[in-house]
Amino acid sequence: MSTSLAWDERYGGGAFQFGEAPNLFLLEQAHRLRRGMRALSVGDGEGRNGVWLAEQGLEATALDWSSVGLAKAQALANRRGAGITTVVADLSRWDWPEKRFDLIAWIYVHLPPEDRAAACAGVLRALAPGGLLVMECFTPAQEGRRSGGPKDPSLLWSRALVEQHFAGLEVLALLEGAVWLDEGPRHQGLAEVVRAVLRRPG
Ligand SMILES: C[S@@+](CC[C@H](N)C(=O)[O-])C[C@H]1O[C@@H](n2cnc3c(N)ncnc32)[C@H](O)[C@@H]1O
Repeated sequence: MSTSLAWDERYGGGAFQFGEAPNLFLLEQAHRLRRGMRALSVGDGEGRNGVWLAEQGLEATALDWSSVGLAKAQALANRRGAGITTVVADLSRWDWPEKRFDLIAWIYVHLPPEDRAAACAGVLRALAPGGLLVMECFTPAQEGRRSGGPKDPSLLWSRALVEQHFAGLEVLALLEGAVWLDEGPRHQGLAEVVRAVLRRPG
């Protein structure tokens, strides 16, 4: 079972487990970003995505239940001269603010079904009208590949799960298939993912 302590342990060394560069799909959404947007990167780990969002001029908050990961995120932000706010919290139990964020990044966060439902309800609550959700996660087709992802299949995402949890959001992009990952030591090689860009109407 995944726990915050297990992630603290993984993040304990000096190396960045998923690299220091942002996730490629998030990077490809740069044209949708505007300076001053309020961004939340959930399960931000060592901060590669949250710090990049801050560098684009967004007001970035990085949330993760690993304090070790977020300490590295803060150090990465300091090193790159970017300002981020870090929040150590379990995203299935967080007191999600209402209509607060113009962008939520959900990159490779895999939760047990009940926690996933709670966190998705939180995302729906926290997106401001017109706000975007950008997501990339592994699908069941990833099983057996060595390019990353959880071993427990109940944690995996799919296009159908995205549609189910985020019904009510407008779909700007929603794709399931194979991509090539080159993201630090933990995400290397061909991988099966779902990618989505969704927008809260309004
Ligand atoms: C595979 S890592 C991805 C990290 C980061 N999003 C990235 O792409 O570099 C998954 C992250 O989700 C975090 N996480 C998992 N379950 C969580 C939960 N219930 N609450 C908060 N963070 C969680 C882990 O601590 C870890 O940092």
